[in-house]
Parts: sequence; C-alpha cells; structure tokens
Amino acid sequence: MTFNVIKLKETESTNTYAKALLRKGEPLMPYTLIYTSRQTAGRGRLGRSWESEEGSTLCMSLVAPYPYAPAVTLLSALGVHRALCALGVKNTKIKWPNDLIFGNKKLCGILTESTDKYAVIGIGINLNTEDFPLEIAHKATSLKMITGKVFDPFEAAKLITQKLVEILEETKGSLTPAIHREYTALCENIGREVSFRGKSGVAVAIDKDGSLLVQTAEGTEKISSGEVFVCGIY
Ligand code: BTN
Repeated sequence: MTFNVIKLKETESTNTYAKALLRKGEPLMPYTLIYTSRQTAGRGRLGRSWESEEGSTLCMSLVAPYPYAPAVTLLSALGVHRALCALGVKNTKIKWPNDLIFGNKKLCGILTESTDKYAVIGIGINLNTEDFPLEIAHKATSLKMITGKVFDPFEAAKLITQKLVEILEETKGSLTPAIHREYTALCENIGREVSFRGKSGVAVAIDKDGSLLVQTAEGTEKISSGEVFVCGIY
C-alpha cells in the first residue's frame, strides 16, 4: 500500500502540523507521513514537551484513517517494533502503552492524537544520539548506542510508515487475538511490580480493549490511560 509524504525542513511539531491540515479539511491520502528534520515545539504524552536534536532524533507523524481507539496506540508500538526488527535492532520491548525500551531505557515515545475521522500517530525515536542531557541519561538510549550504527532518519521514517500501514491494514485498527498475543509477549510491564495514581501492584495482563490489568491488594484495577511506572525502569 502506498502512502503520501510531506517532508518539512522545520516545524513546531509534526502532530500539530498534521492536526492543522485536518482542521482545514485538506484532502489527504488515507495514509500521509509528515516528516521533519527539526522540531521546535515537540509534544510528548500527558502534556509534556519532547526535545529533539536535528540529525539525531527522528520526528514523524502518520495520519491514518482511523478514529481514536486505544488499539491504535498499541498497534503503533507494535508497528515501530516490527520496523526496529527490520533495521536489525533486536531485543526491544514495549512499556505500556507505547514506549519502546531497550533494557531499562527509553528509545522511542509515541503520542497518538485524533480527530473524528483520523488518528495522528506521532513518533519520536532516539536514532543517533551519543549522549543525553544529565537529567535523562539514566533512562534514555538510542539506536546508535545499541548497535554502534548511524541511521538515516528519513529512510527510517519511511520504513516505520510501511510497517505501521501494514499493521493497521492487517487489523483494520483493532486488537485482534493474534495482535493481542504479539503485544502481550513484548510488554515489559507484565509480571512486574508497577505503580500508578499512588497505588501499586503487579501488572498481570492486557485487557481485550488494550487496558493494563494490575493486581493490587484491593483487587484487579483496569488502567486505560495515564502514567504507569515499572519498578526498576521508569
Ligand atoms: C512521549 O513519549 O511522551 C511521546 C513523545 C512523542 C514525540 C513525537 S516527535 C514527533 C511527534 N510530534 C510531536 O510533537 N510529538 C511526536
């Protein structure tokens, strides 16, 4: 399946750019990749900012023809995981809902947003970073640090897009039983001590709708959004 590409030298945030296009009612191909070399006001999950470095961080958004569903968030992480495998990067895992990690460090963050008809899947990957600011050095890593190789951000963005389109077409944006199994096997939270909203417990499963199920002293809690810390990771 083909996709359209919008390649920008600089923009505030590829997600913000994508949402502005959708708001204006621009005719977009079902799948459109928005890529930039430099992002000046990148956004992360839960209202945080996302810092990036030209040439070192991959910043992209994919506009996909699916209204928001929690499954899209999980599918995006699997799509990136498949792309990393194709790039020869092994042993990455997923921290629920959609961080890609290697060991106990973050490699990729995904911000999924939506309009009534489209999902905007914003992906930031530490590609060629060699050292991180002190505040995040203990919890961040890059593909270069893992493999010793340098990656071309635009080529990687096109490969990721191909894998995302593949998985979204395969599943039509839903969490099929096969995808549920694939995600569960890669989810680092499962079987580990986690904390969330001042509570703690052991993450036991991914629910059919993509929520995380956590066994606490009071019973099973179903978490569908927000921050979940994994003991020993972040
Ligand atoms: C997170 O882990 O908090 C999610 C980070 C997502 C960052 C990417 S970079 C490309 C796209 N544009 C943005 O403003 N954010 C996402």
